[in-house]
Amino acid sequence: MLWLILLVVSVYFCIISCLSSVDRFKHKSTHIGLERNYYHWNTSLPSITVCPMQRLNESLFSKYCRQHGIREKFKIELWNFLENLANSTYFNFDRIPVYDSIDSTLDQLNIHPEQYMELIYNLTFDGTYEPIERQRIHCTDGQIHIGVRQVLTEYGICYLSNSYLSEEYSSRYFIFGLYPEYNKYLHANRFVQVKIGTFFEKDVGFTIMGFDTEAIDTYMHSPFEVMKVDNNFGYTVEGTSYEPESEEITADANLEKEASISQRKCRFYHESNLTHFPIYTRNICQQECRLNLAYKICRCIPHFYPNNIRNPKPVCNYRVLKSCFPKHASFFLKLYEEDSKHEEPAACYCEQNCRDAVIKTKQPQAMRGTRQLLGSLGSSLLVNSWPRNRLKRQVIFSFTDLLVSIGGTAGLYLGFSVLGLVEFIYFFTLRLVWHMIGYKI
Ligand SMILES: *[C@@H]1O[C@H](CO)[C@@H](O)[C@H](O)[C@H]1NC(C)=O
Ligand SMILES: *[C@@H]1O[C@H](CO)[C@@H](O)[C@H](O)[C@H]1NC(C)=O
Ligand SMILES: *[C@@H]1O[C@H](CO)[C@@H](O)[C@H](O)[C@H]1NC(C)=O
Ligand SMILES: *[C@@H]1O[C@H](CO)[C@@H](O)[C@H](O)[C@H]1NC(C)=O
Ligand SMILES: *[C@@H]1O[C@H](CO)[C@@H](O)[C@H](O)[C@H]1NC(C)=O
Repeated sequence: MLWLILLVVSVYFCIISCLSSVDRFKHKSTHIGLERNYYHWNTSLPSITVCPMQRLNESLFSKYCRQHGIREKFKIELWNFLENLANSTYFNFDRIPVYDSIDSTLDQLNIHPEQYMELIYNLTFDGTYEPIERQRIHCTDGQIHIGVRQVLTEYGICYLSNSYLSEEYSSRYFIFGLYPEYNKYLHANRFVQVKIGTFFEKDVGFTIMGFDTEAIDTYMHSPFEVMKVDNNFGYTVEGTSYEPESEEITADANLEKEASISQRKCRFYHESNLTHFPIYTRNICQQECRLNLAYKICRCIPHFYPNNIRNPKPVCNYRVLKSCFPKHASFFLKLYEEDSKHEEPAACYCEQNCRDAVIKTKQPQAMRGTRQLLGSLGSSLLVNSWPRNRLKRQVIFSFTDLLVSIGGTAGLYLGFSVLGLVEFIYFFTLRLVWHMIGYKI
């Protein structure tokens, strides 16, 4: 009796302990630690996205109109319409002009809402491919160049510099599913994708320039992230200059392999499970939430989202953009609403980025006289104080630890070991069979 009770009690406690180890492995196997040995860190500079406020290229537009026989009044009205459509986002859909001629012109050109973005893309000149260096959109720190590419954002076609995201995040890939063309002007120079600074360097920064437009709008964000449409500097006819401080969140080299997404509660950018986007970042995930919300409320999605998927969603006609979206603009942007007219933002959960940076900045300054200095508009960034703290995602309870823990528990309570297990199996199989056949062992 005593033995039996002891056995039952130990089995019970063994199971309880093992379950708690399994639970720890599933839910608490990673943590975020603080690192403080800042002398040796390489810190990536923040990223800048610049949106030119004049979108279409006049010579491409004139050529297009010539080819399709659109003249005079029709041409001017089409220009105004497309220019504003290309410049529209959640906070200014109501600026899209309505002319009587637009519907017939679009019919004549056979442009449906699905082609809005393609047409805008075709009529936009990618300034990073401009042959003349002074007019090219490029990014440099004075000696080496930094990668810039044209991207499709929620604010139309913009230019992204200094980013870790792969080339799948580009306008061409989002619209046509093709990687950007080889940029021979960039490759002719010594260049890096992301500028890195160390603790002892003073005044590390870069300038993105070459915007030959009247005004620009700029966004500064982490180099592991994309811009957030409501986090902009605003319309400016001067350049902008930033003096940010960045604190990085890094990840252990083995984090990706040793912990699954649900264990580490974060995603790397190539681990996308989004429907419309080939890459994952937290802001892109929120864009997808916004897109789904727009689809739910207005029954269609704005033209600036990639829709190159198996079951494309209907794209909004400009009239719907004007009628349905402005009413709900703040709900779409914030994804929640103060006076809760709508229900909760419907199960939209976005995981963090595994690698990221927290950017703090003083009020960005308008740079006066950039146009005279550089011959074009641009934005510059200068880092002169480096982080002394850094966060690191680490695996603290790996699969090996789980095995050891379960094995140890079973050993403690039941005297269990692998040899014992083999013996146990042997006892009830081979030995039993032999015994029954009649061998004496
Ligand atoms: C920092 O960057 C330099 C080159 O930019 C590289 O040689 C070095 O290994 C990096 N250090 C660390 C700790 O990553
Ligand atoms: C418009 O596009 C042409 C190439 O088609 C280019 O040479 C020109 O610089 C562009 N204009 C502007 C203002 O970007
Ligand atoms: C583009 O949108 C911004 C923000 O609404 C506005 O200030 C700017 O004037 C627009 N640009 C053009 C060319 O209409
Ligand atoms: C845009 O350009 C591509 C390639 O030049 C062409 O195939 C496509 O039909 C154009 N789209 C529109 C809407 O004009
Ligand atoms: C992506 O994964 C998260 C959980 O990791 C889930 O909540 C979300 O619904 C998934 N998104 C899609 C589009 O499947």
